[in-house]
Amino acid sequence: MSALPSRVVITESSSRDGLQSLGAFVPTLAKSGLINDLADAGLRNFDAVSFVSPKAVPQMADGADVLAGVDRREGLSLFGLVPNAKGLGAAVAAGVDGIGVLTAASDTFNERNINATVDESMHRIRSILLDAPEHFVVRGYISTATHCPYEGEQDPDWVAHLAETLVEWGVHAVFLGETTGRATPAHVERLLDEVLQRVPVEMVGVHFHDTYGQAVANTVAALHNGVAMMDSSAGGLGGCPYAPGATGNVATEDVLYLLDGLGIEHGIDIVDVARVAQRFCADHNLTYNSAAGRAVLASRDGE
Ligand code: HMG
Ligand code: MG
Repeated sequence: MSALPSRVVITESSSRDGLQSLGAFVPTLAKSGLINDLADAGLRNFDAVSFVSPKAVPQMADGADVLAGVDRREGLSLFGLVPNAKGLGAAVAAGVDGIGVLTAASDTFNERNINATVDESMHRIRSILLDAPEHFVVRGYISTATHCPYEGEQDPDWVAHLAETLVEWGVHAVFLGETTGRATPAHVERLLDEVLQRVPVEMVGVHFHDTYGQAVANTVAALHNGVAMMDSSAGGLGGCPYAPGATGNVATEDVLYLLDGLGIEHGIDIVDVARVAQRFCADHNLTYNSAAGRAVLASRDGE
């Protein structure tokens, strides 16, 4: 275990992972507004949209228009998920600052998610890396990093091999996607034990879902291993259309409360995030799902 990081970089996923599984279409202006309001709360990095097939994920069909409605303030980084060359072209045209490229530890999930085996998706990533503009920050997502919804537990050594390969090919960071939310801190420890032997900790990020209520505990495990980049989603919104039963990402508010308690800097206002997310959930008939967010709002109301 290394020392806790003194500062972390949070990437806000609510407008992408938070919404992608919803059946009812969230209007484009509301998606841009969510990003703008969360930027007002201090968030600067956004896993904002996807450039994927609109037949596969209809909710994400308006990525370019969502970004057009975002107020491009100083220091803002907008990322788009890109599964293939067509997605890269759309991301370039939309003026993103960076992209997330996709693979997984397990073939079955990967085939259902992006219609490619792990090997095929790794080769797609390689060609995306060769074609991506120099200024793009490229994050490599490895989904099902601990558990696959179809194949069960994954081998940490295999995930570490994928992570190392992505770094050799030029990704700027590897994000370990805990897609199913089944992992406990023991799984996270085992995974990071392997990954951190092959990839510098500064290049490793975590992306936890909270299906089994383990995501804050898993975040603690990652922090104790020195990981300082993490994705989260305001109001705990989220899910994956190809991971049945997987619920929201770890709530941004829950992570912020944890970081405050540990004395780790993040630059984000928890009360503002909670207000924005609670209002967004109310407006769109979604369940607000952050324990810390509910509590900070309740204590403000009581003052
Ligand atoms: P495919 O059917 O193999 O693609 O799907 P294709 O190349 O044969 O093309 C089929 C059709 O899709 C064609 O249109 C293409 O033009 C179109 P048609 O001729 O039928 O009208 N198409 C596209 N359209 C827009 N943008 C594109 C694109 N590519 C093809 N980029 C494909 C392969 C990857 C496209 C598809 O499976 C797909 O879009 N999958 C995306 C699935 C997805 O978005 N999943 C959720 C995100 S991943 C996630 O949430 C996990 C993460 O959060 C981490 C974690 O939690 O672990 C990141
Ligand atoms: Mg996810």
